[in-house]
This record gives sequence, C-alpha cells and structure tokens, in this order.
Amino acid sequence: MRIKGQALIGVLCFLILVTSSACSATTKPPVFRYRYDESVQTVISKLPAQYPPTSFAVFSDPHVFAPELGMESPALDEYLANDRKLLRESTRIMKSVIGWVKETPARFVLVSGDLTKDGERVSHELCASYLREIEASGKQVYVVPGNHDILNPNAVSYSAAGSQPVRNITPGEFAEIYRAFGYGEALYRDSASLSYIVEPEKGLWLLALDANRYRENEGVNDAVTDGRFSPGTLRWIEEMLIKAHEQGKAVMVMMHHGVVEHYNGQEKYFGMYLVDDFQYISRLFAEYGARLVFTGHYHAQDITLKRFAGENKFLYDIETGSLVTYPCPYRNIEITADQKVHIRSGRVEAIKGYSGNFQDFAREYVTNGIVNIAVDTLKTFGIPADGAELLAEQVGNAFVAHYAGDEKLPAGQPVISAKGAGLRGWLVVFSRKGLLDGLWHDLAPPDNNITIDLNTGAWK
Ligand SMILES: [Fe+2]
Repeated sequence: MRIKGQALIGVLCFLILVTSSACSATTKPPVFRYRYDESVQTVISKLPAQYPPTSFAVFSDPHVFAPELGMESPALDEYLANDRKLLRESTRIMKSVIGWVKETPARFVLVSGDLTKDGERVSHELCASYLREIEASGKQVYVVPGNHDILNPNAVSYSAAGSQPVRNITPGEFAEIYRAFGYGEALYRDSASLSYIVEPEKGLWLLALDANRYRENEGVNDAVTDGRFSPGTLRWIEEMLIKAHEQGKAVMVMMHHGVVEHYNGQEKYFGMYLVDDFQYISRLFAEYGARLVFTGHYHAQDITLKRFAGENKFLYDIETGSLVTYPCPYRNIEITADQKVHIRSGRVEAIKGYSGNFQDFAREYVTNGIVNIAVDTLKTFGIPADGAELLAEQVGNAFVAHYAGDEKLPAGQPVISAKGAGLRGWLVVFSRKGLLDGLWHDLAPPDNNITIDLNTGAWK
C-alpha cells in the first residue's frame, strides 16, 4: 500500500509494531559557533533586540489542488480513502481564508509550507494566484516550501482511466513562482536551499527556512516526509543569526518541520515531522534570542515552549494546523511595544457551495477517515471487526483532539481501553499506548489563544 497521507502515516505508526527508529532519525549532532567562538559569544552576551510592534496572519498546509487535475474520479476517491485532506474543498477553503485575511489588521502573512497537494505545477500556479489576491489587498505574503511541494513524484491528475503523471516543479521554479512572496524581496538567500531572510517590519528579521529533502525524491515512489538542514545551510543560518544580533534585528523563524516536540513521544513515533537534530537547532535559535518559530507539517494546532539552561533562553514552536484538516485553522498574531505577543486563532467556518455546518463536516470527515483506515489495518492483525472498531474509534478521537489543540482527556475516560478487542487488540494497545498518552496530554502552554511575554517567556 502506498502511504500518502499524514493521517494514514499516523495511524500506521500507531498500529504497526515497528521499532522506534523507523519513525525517527539519528545524526551526528552539529557543533555551532556559539559554543566555541569567543567573538560570537561576545556578540550574544548582549541582550537581543526588542521586537518592533507589528501584526501578521499565519496559515499553513493549504494543499491547494487545482480542479483541472480532475475532481471526480474513482482514482481520486481511492487516494482520498488513504489521505484525509479536504482536497476537493481546498480551493474554496483558500477563498474563504483570503476573505478573512483581507479583513484582518495583519500587515503581512506567513504560509509555512505544503502549498499544494503534491507539487503539481498547475496547483502551484493557482496557489500563487490566491496569494497575489492577498497582496493586492496591501498585505505582503511570505512562503516556504513543504515536503509535498517540490520534485514530488506523486504529482498526478485524475480521470476515469486512473491517475496520470503531470508536471511538478524544481526548486528553481518554486523560487520563481513565489518570487513575489519572499524570494524576490529577500535580503539574503542560502545557496544550498530555498531559505531566505526578509525584513517584514523595520527591525524584525524573518528567517524563512527550508529543511525539505526534495533532492532525494528522484527514483522514489513518495516524496521524503522528513526534514534536515545540510551542514552548509546550518552554517548559513548561524551566520544570519550572528548578523541579526550585530545589526540589532529581532528574529523570528518560519519553517515547515517542527523544532520542538509537540507532545511527549513525537520524536519516537513521528520523527519525520520534526527537523533532524531539532534539540540542537531549537537551542541554536534560543541562544541568539529568536523567541518564535512558526511551523506546520503535522496538521495540528499546537504551541509548545522549550526552555534551555541559561538566563532567558527559550523558544516557542507555534505550529499551525492545516487549512484542509479539521479544524481548518488560522492565526492572528500581534506583537505590542511592551514585548507581548497576542495569538488569537480562528477556523474556517463556511465555504462556498456548502450550506451545512462546515466545522462539523470537517471533523466528521477526518474522524471517519482515521477510523476507517484503523479498522482495516487492525483487521489485518487478526483483531475481530467489532474489537477493531472499538480501538479505531479511540485512535480517531485522540488524533482529532490533538489536531484541534487544547486537548483534554474527558474525566474518567482512559487513554485507550482494549476491552472487547481480544488478546491481539490488547497487544496492539500495549505497544502503542505511549503515543495516545502523548496525543491526549497537551504540553504547556495553550494552543489557540495565548499571550506570551517575549522578555521572560512567561505566558497567560
Ligand atoms: Fe501537509
């Protein structure tokens, strides 16, 4: 079976009795200059710059799927059965978000990757046209690529005859198509990746970083999900952080992959959703006083604070869920002169052509998808159908709660119960209870609405 979707990967990682290394990566830790270079230590011994007041919007993983690629086809139905994104609704969701963005006080907009379903050129062109519409309203847009966006072998169209390959895009074409959304305005660009730096507000640098491994996609069936910075890109990132410090610029980061674990066990069960060496990379950002990283990829609304040894060394990984996965969220961020960040989150509540409650529809869509995949997989382990359904429903509820953020296990409800699932069901539960424990236990702080003190890291 081809693994296509985040939901599918999630369920399989839960169900299959794999070793933890299958979902994680081990590399030799990088050594950064701040640890041994005295001139750098002198630079960062001074307080980092204060953040200028500003406001901006964030959304992620819109996975735009151009309708001309075929919306009605058994092959697309089959794809969607293994991938629970709201792809048929992706363009209407984008239009709904454009309407919201235009009305916000945001001065600029961040889009943290996975702009398209699977990197089809026509989907990129359509996505860029939506972003142009946002810019026409006076708000600058900045993007980075996600793992689905470049040199993706799964770029296909659908018809009654099945799926047919269509043109995908190269890294150079990505920078060209999104020239107006970061690459054309960049103060600096990394020669080894699609990372760049812009100054969206005077005194504020945005490090827009690319850890995607699209160069390894050649000759494989599926685009690489994991993320890693090359040694050259890591050197460039640190050089830019030093430069920002020297020039008195406050820094925030945007990238697709996470840099802080969003629940206990994420690296063990879902290492491909965190950038390799995330422990060292998050520390690197914190050492230079970058307080905020905006990420996507896991399709969940989650904010996690990581504190490091040393005075005021901390980092907030602000992960924004996907526009095409319940709860289809977006965020409004305001930084005030007193160094507070006010984060408020909203959801796509309606799309054109759907008269019912869109949030209910989206929730049911993703829940059913996860449950159906889980039932099928559990049956292959010899678990009887009724037992498989009992377990699958609990798996689905845990994932959906985590996607929405601020998850809280209802009082009296166990993380998972194997009651009625037989011995094989009990074995599966025993081997993967840790993941569901992690999904149900939200790490501080809250995920949707919060105020952060940029000087101390305190939140309320
Ligand atoms: Fe995605």
